Amino acid sequence: MAQTIRKAVFPAAGLGTRFLPATKASPKEMLPLVDKPLIQYSIEEAVSAGCDSILIITGRDKSAIENHFDISFELEQLLKEKGKNDLFEQVRAISDIAKISYTRQKQALGLGHAIYQAKDFAGGDPFAALLADDIVDAEKPALTQMIDVFERYDAPVIATMQVEGEAISRFGVIDADEVEPGVFKIKDMIEKPAFEDAPSDLAIIGRYIFTPDIFDAIERTAPGAGGEIQITDAMRLLLKERPFYAVKLDGVRHDAGDKLGFLIATVQYALKRDDLGDAFRAYLRSLEL
Ligand code: G1P
Repeated sequence: MAQTIRKAVFPAAGLGTRFLPATKASPKEMLPLVDKPLIQYSIEEAVSAGCDSILIITGRDKSAIENHFDISFELEQLLKEKGKNDLFEQVRAISDIAKISYTRQKQALGLGHAIYQAKDFAGGDPFAALLADDIVDAEKPALTQMIDVFERYDAPVIATMQVEGEAISRFGVIDADEVEPGVFKIKDMIEKPAFEDAPSDLAIIGRYIFTPDIFDAIERTAPGAGGEIQITDAMRLLLKERPFYAVKLDGVRHDAGDKLGFLIATVQYALKRDDLGDAFRAYLRSLEL
């Protein structure tokens, strides 16, 4: 059986241009869905899938992420003094979530280049990479669904979902054969094709399980779409040398890095909350739309 996945990488150096002006001085990964920053959702997903070692690839102006996962001494002290034990436990649990380290991507040269910064961290082990913008609301965590396939096929796995119409050209797209329900063996992939050139309606979602040979493939990858070193292009090179699989996620994916996607995700997550759902639902019903 394949080695289990204990390491997870979170590229978080992007400039968040799709969400300006909110992201002018604050990391987009810290935008809150209801009351929790986006990156905390995906780190919790990785931890629940068995990862205990985390690397966040940061950049300039991203120190709020490090502070969020650190101990906040003054806040904890204050909450204890005021007897707010639930909040204290909640805040403390965030800093205990996993072993987190940080490295900086000094130049925004693309997702492939960001993931390359994890070479030392991976140190010869397979690892997961998660994009915090992609929030997957699923009963069985998206990464767990993927690790099941990784362990059975002993090969890298990416997440996919069907995207109708022209919107497909905003994604990496795969050409693949379904080998069992919801599991695909990839034949080819292309980053952000024109609608007419998309080989299928299967889009790549921001969840990946890589084997260490991805780093050598990234080294051999020339800049692609947008002049950036694309992870899709690196995977495409590697695909010539080894099998690659995709899992159609069972769940709902939200693009929380996009303004409309973020609003939709906020409504969905708020409606699910025990403490807010009923009141929020009543408010939405009262709107004359
Ligand atoms: C990245 C990947 C793309 C993938 C997408 C999923 O693109 O390059 O292949 O489909 O994430 O969210 P980005 O959205 O960062 O431009």
